[in-house]
Amino acid sequence: MHPGPTQEKRFDPANAERLLSLERHARYLPDELLRSLGIAEGHRVADVGCGPGFWALPLARIVGPSGRVAALDASPRMFELLARQNPPPWLDTIEAELPETGLPDGWADWVWLAFVFHEVEPPSALARETLRILRPGGRVAVLDWRPDAAGESGPPRHHRIAPQEVARLLAEAGFAHPDVSLRDADTYLVTAAKPA
Ligand SMILES: C[S@@+](CC[C@H](N)C(=O)[O-])C[C@H]1O[C@@H](n2cnc3c(N)ncnc32)[C@H](O)[C@@H]1O
Repeated sequence: MHPGPTQEKRFDPANAERLLSLERHARYLPDELLRSLGIAEGHRVADVGCGPGFWALPLARIVGPSGRVAALDASPRMFELLARQNPPPWLDTIEAELPETGLPDGWADWVWLAFVFHEVEPPSALARETLRILRPGGRVAVLDWRPDAAGESGPPRHHRIAPQEVARLLAEAGFAHPDVSLRDADTYLVTAAKPA
């Protein structure tokens, strides 16, 4: 089936297992990266575009039973792979067609968007939805591919979104202090806070 105009950039679920590779773990060190942002025990985190759980399972370990992880994706195949990894009961999987999440206003302490911001149309609506589901003072972190990456891995360059554009969209949606850091030659991280 030919993908519709809003699905053209979407990651192919047939390649879902690649998202759980050991190489990827070694490259991103998910537990360390997430903790370094300030995600901690008891937090409520929305893992938006969670895929097969590469980040959702570390997030659940970090927040523990006093926290909550809402793992959202459109793809049942991703949830199948996630379920095989025995997620704890404080991780909920939620089928959602982004940019809508269906989460209540102010639900999250953190919204984590890894390699998904560039796939969702329109990204401005995703930025607004992210603001809506965060509590005042809550934070968003966007990890994504640099359009000017050195390496050949990742989505086609014309599908990518520049970190400055993510920061601009977050600021336009109402976020304060968007901060851009180039993590390595291929990826960037943008963080911002919902005003308290
Ligand atoms: C490249 S994968 C990244 C998955 C995960 N965040 C990771 O880093 O391992 C992007 C994910 O976003 C999901 N996605 C993309 N567009 C979406 C949309 N409009 N609604 C729901 N999920 C979407 C895809 O199904 C896919 O699982």
